[in-house]
Amino acid sequence: MTLKVAVVEGDGIGREVIPVARRVLETIRPDIELFPVEVGYGKWARTGCACDADDIAALKSADSILFGAITTPPDPGYNSILLRIRKELDLYANVRPVQGEGFDILIIRENTEGLYSGIEWHEEDRACTVRVITVKGSRRIARFAAERALARGGHLTIGNKANVLKSDVLFREICIEEATGAGVRWDTAFIDALTLDVLMHPAEYDVIVTTNMFGDILSDAAGYLVGGLGLLPSANIGDRHALFEPVHGSAPDIAGTDRANPIAAVRSAAMLLDHAGDHDGAVCIETAIREVVARGVKTPDMGGRAGTRAFGDALVTALQTPHQQRP
Ligand code: IPM
Ligand code: MG
Repeated sequence: MTLKVAVVEGDGIGREVIPVARRVLETIRPDIELFPVEVGYGKWARTGCACDADDIAALKSADSILFGAITTPPDPGYNSILLRIRKELDLYANVRPVQGEGFDILIIRENTEGLYSGIEWHEEDRACTVRVITVKGSRRIARFAAERALARGGHLTIGNKANVLKSDVLFREICIEEATGAGVRWDTAFIDALTLDVLMHPAEYDVIVTTNMFGDILSDAAGYLVGGLGLLPSANIGDRHALFEPVHGSAPDIAGTDRANPIAAVRSAAMLLDHAGDHDGAVCIETAIREVVARGVKTPDMGGRAGTRAFGDALVTALQTPHQQRP
């Protein structure tokens, strides 16, 4: 069956890195059906609405979504479109692999609740945000993470702040139950100390599960291990829908300069193929990235001089060379 993928370039460097990821997908899977969906700041500036019900319906109609990045419009009442999409499509597991010389970490972040509950208000002299941790939300992310850890023959670290937050006492308890039930080896760690230790001893970690905002911060910090956010992909997975996006944002400071590293977006496209059952396709993409980088074709964040488009050209050429072609 044809794989139907909705493509959201979004704003800023999303409009530069997603076209590269798109070319890579078209090269490796000529049978794929890609269709654009416009959401974000650009759309808001033009129409006054960053994402409407038709856009959500279009995203839901796809087998998968390839997503760039969105700039926050200068509107005080604005709520993040990405968060809305994650909630409306119930993409409860945010999966962020961080791989490098001697380490292979999978950060799994709860993606629909916690401090991102959306329950917040402003009073006279204070503003409040409610951190919601539910049994259902914790159980499904814990189960997801335990299954991933088990499939890798690995270990699960449960990142939390249960020494301070009652909500994390619940999260930790449920994660322990699920990990024990799945028969996976586990331990728990406080998120602050864990973040430092992951940076100092990355080889000692395998799968890490944590709540929404802790996972947001931990995954950006882990970008340090690989030389920056230009390299880190992510998957937002639910039971019915899945969205793949680079961990980085729209980077307005370098947008339009052909300096953005498209590797995070291309790796997100590889995760999309893997999720669709095309493991070989994903491996081919990763091999081609490594080959191109090994030849010294690198964007400025990696110390090179290649532009976003030139890197994309090199990648597509590598994917077309016979030894690279998929089995
Ligand atoms: C991320 C981003 C988002 C988040 C923002 C853009 C809403 O930082 O995907 O990590 O906080 O989840
Ligand atoms: Mg983030």
